[in-house]
Amino acid sequence: MPLIYEILAMLKLLLLVLFSAASLQAITTHGQPYDYLQYVLQWPNTKCVKARCIPGIQKTEFTTHGLWPTNLSKILTCNSASKFSSTMLQNDATLVSKLKTSWPNLEQRVAQGKDNDMWFWAMEYEKHGTCAKFSSQNTYLSKACDLWEENKIKDIFAKHKIIPRNATYKDVLLTNAIQMETRSSPLLLCHRVNGGDLLWEVVLCYDDTAKKRMNCSDQSARQTNCGTDIYYKFINNNNNNNKGITCS
Ligand SMILES: *[C@@H]1O[C@H](CO)[C@@H](O)[C@H](O)[C@H]1NC(C)=O
Ligand SMILES: *[C@@H]1O[C@H](CO)[C@@H](O)[C@H](O)[C@H]1NC(C)=O
Ligand SMILES: *[C@@H]1O[C@H](CO)[C@@H](O)[C@H](O)[C@H]1NC(C)=O
Repeated sequence: MPLIYEILAMLKLLLLVLFSAASLQAITTHGQPYDYLQYVLQWPNTKCVKARCIPGIQKTEFTTHGLWPTNLSKILTCNSASKFSSTMLQNDATLVSKLKTSWPNLEQRVAQGKDNDMWFWAMEYEKHGTCAKFSSQNTYLSKACDLWEENKIKDIFAKHKIIPRNATYKDVLLTNAIQMETRSSPLLLCHRVNGGDLLWEVVLCYDDTAKKRMNCSDQSARQTNCGTDIYYKFINNNNNNNKGITCS
C-alpha cells in the first residue's frame, strides 16, 4: 500500500477515536464540570451558637448541611435556570421523611407556619444541586440521605470513645477516628468563641458523582480551621441566640 493511503487510514482512525471520545464526554457531563463533591455535616449545637435556631429543635445528631460541587480552588455556585420543585419532592413521601431526619433546617428563616425545611432544601438545591451530576432533583436529595446513613459521625466518634462532653478533644483524635472508619481524611470546621473552638462542621469528600470517597485535600476550597483543642459538646442555649454563651 502506498504510504499516502496508510497515513489517510491512520488519520481516519484517529478522527474516529477523537469523535467518539467527544460524544462520550457530551453524554456524561451535565452542566459545568467540577472536581469533587463536599458532603458537609453540621453539629446543631454549634450551629445554634452561630445562628438563631428554631426553638426546641433536636440537637443530638450531626445533620446534613449540603452536598456541594467544588473545584480545587473554590466552592461553585450553580448558575442554572432550573428551579426547585416542591411538588416533585412531595410526590416521594419516603424521601421527604428521610430528609426531615437527616437534612432539617435549623434556623428560623421563613415566616411561622411556612415550611422551613422546604425553604432550606430549595435554597441548597438551587445553589448547589442544579449543577451537580445527578439525573434529577430527587436523585440529588436522595443521594444526600444515603451519604448521611453511611456517615453517622456521632457513632463513628462514639466507637472511638469520643462523646460530647464539657472538655476539649485533640483535633487528631477526631480526625483519626473519621479516617479509620471512612478510609478518607475529612476537614473539620470550628466556630471560635471566647472559650475556644467549637466543632461545627465535618466535611467528607467524594468524586463528582459521589460514588467514590476522596481525601479532602488541604488545598481544597475550604480548610480545617480548628485549633488543636476542640470542644465537641452539647450546648443547651435555651433562648437560641448567641448571647451569654460561654465555652465552659
Ligand atoms: C472547575 O474546574 C473544571 C476543571 O476541573 C473547569 O473545567 C471548570 O471551568 C471550573 N469551573 C469554574 C467555575 O471555575
Ligand atoms: C487517603 O490517603 C491515604 C494516605 O495517603 C491513602 O492510604 C488512602 O487510600 C486515601 N483514601 C482515598 C479514599 O483515596
Ligand atoms: C464545664 O467545665 C467548666 C470547667 O472547665 C466548669 O466551670 C463548668 O461549670 C462546666 N459546665 C458544665 C455545664 O458542667
